[in-house]
Amino acid sequence: MQTQFTSRFAFLMVTAGAAVGLGNIWAFPFVAGQSGGSGFIAIYLVALLVLAAPAMICELVLGRMGQASPPTALARVKVENTGKGPWSLFGWSGLAVNILVLSFYAVIAGQAAYFGYYAFSEGFSSMQPSAISALDNGFKINMNLSMLWTILFLGATLTIVSLNITKGIENAGRYLMPSLFVLLIGLALYSMSIGNAKAALNFLFGMDSFSLTTGVFMAAVGQAFFTLSVGICSLMMYGAYMGKDIHLPKAVSWIVLMDLMVAIIAGLVIFPLVFASDVTPDAGPGLIFMTLPLLFAKLPAGDAVATFFFLMLTVAALTSSISMMAPVVARLEEAGLRRITGAFIVAGIAFVLSFMTILSFGPMYDYYPLEMFEATAELNMFELLREGINNIYLPLGGLAFTLLVGWGVRKENLRRGFNIEEGPLFSILHWIIKYLTPFLLLVMIAGIWL
Ligand code: PHE
Ligand code: NA
Repeated sequence: MQTQFTSRFAFLMVTAGAAVGLGNIWAFPFVAGQSGGSGFIAIYLVALLVLAAPAMICELVLGRMGQASPPTALARVKVENTGKGPWSLFGWSGLAVNILVLSFYAVIAGQAAYFGYYAFSEGFSSMQPSAISALDNGFKINMNLSMLWTILFLGATLTIVSLNITKGIENAGRYLMPSLFVLLIGLALYSMSIGNAKAALNFLFGMDSFSLTTGVFMAAVGQAFFTLSVGICSLMMYGAYMGKDIHLPKAVSWIVLMDLMVAIIAGLVIFPLVFASDVTPDAGPGLIFMTLPLLFAKLPAGDAVATFFFLMLTVAALTSSISMMAPVVARLEEAGLRRITGAFIVAGIAFVLSFMTILSFGPMYDYYPLEMFEATAELNMFELLREGINNIYLPLGGLAFTLLVGWGVRKENLRRGFNIEEGPLFSILHWIIKYLTPFLLLVMIAGIWL
């Protein structure tokens, strides 16, 4: 594999760009809202640090050591260390799940792009609050509109993936993170000044609203994996492009920190608005679309800021959707297809699958395919898809990667893969990866079945 990121900074920004996306700004607030706030956030923090981040290190190092598309890399790493094993299966299933994630991600990203277009062409400033909260539903029930914006977003993704890694992705990554931070912090301050900051802080961090159920627990773990993109070989691909000089644990620490900050700040933008309006915290996937325009309507030059914000959000989603498409395309390339052909195939399949989401937001809102089971009785197609992937598949994928790295890779090879010195940091990390993370994940996964 020839392609490489041009610098350490580029790798960091690109990988952070892949990690930071709709998961932080769209999913984190709505899932935290549905899960009752602070209890969810407490578990989320723990899961991020002891489960998802170690699994992220493992996934990246597998890509770095394997130097190929995920299924090929997984098989190669195992053979070079301790012999054969069925690990490439997790590469194949990961590729399939990437396309499934892309299928719902593109619909939400399309909606974000549409809101940017709406802010630009119509504007939120003269709208009544009731009309604003109706905008989300208006978009969702208009299936032609959803399809159109989904196609536009998939088209943008496939274009960038076809253009090849270094040029397209690095440039987006480099400018995105800094702009996003500045913008979000500004919006959070404004939101707290015009909204109900006290209720928001209490909901997110207070003890009054602290509650834990199995459902909240699973949602928090699933969100931790999703937000770091861990479990489906998307990061593994970037691990393969990473330069040799990068200290992997240090790089991952930075990425986790950035990802966490973006999510928390997004929460501080959304919840003061929620508690100062008729929108309830458990409003679901439309939460940010029902609340953010309320803020832009009051903000001076709000429509310009709104246009810029939704544009940034779309770009943040693009840098993530690229990371879902890239590994699949890389595998198709290994099979002899041209990059552009592969990208068209993946985008086409994702578009067909996107109907599960588009229909769930529209006419099939209350169609519950797994009505016969208690746990899934009230989940529509979109919810089954999203929750099944986040809460079940991603932790499983993470478990597979930590087991493979902890038990199937020679310690010395691993140390070189991480690019770190022999010493306490490496020993602790190795212990976490070999015992702690897989043990906790196994207990959790066993718990789901019992
Ligand atoms: N981590 C991305 C986000 O938070 C989503 C993602 C998941 C990207 C899985 C790639 C793979 O938006
Ligand atoms: Na994220």
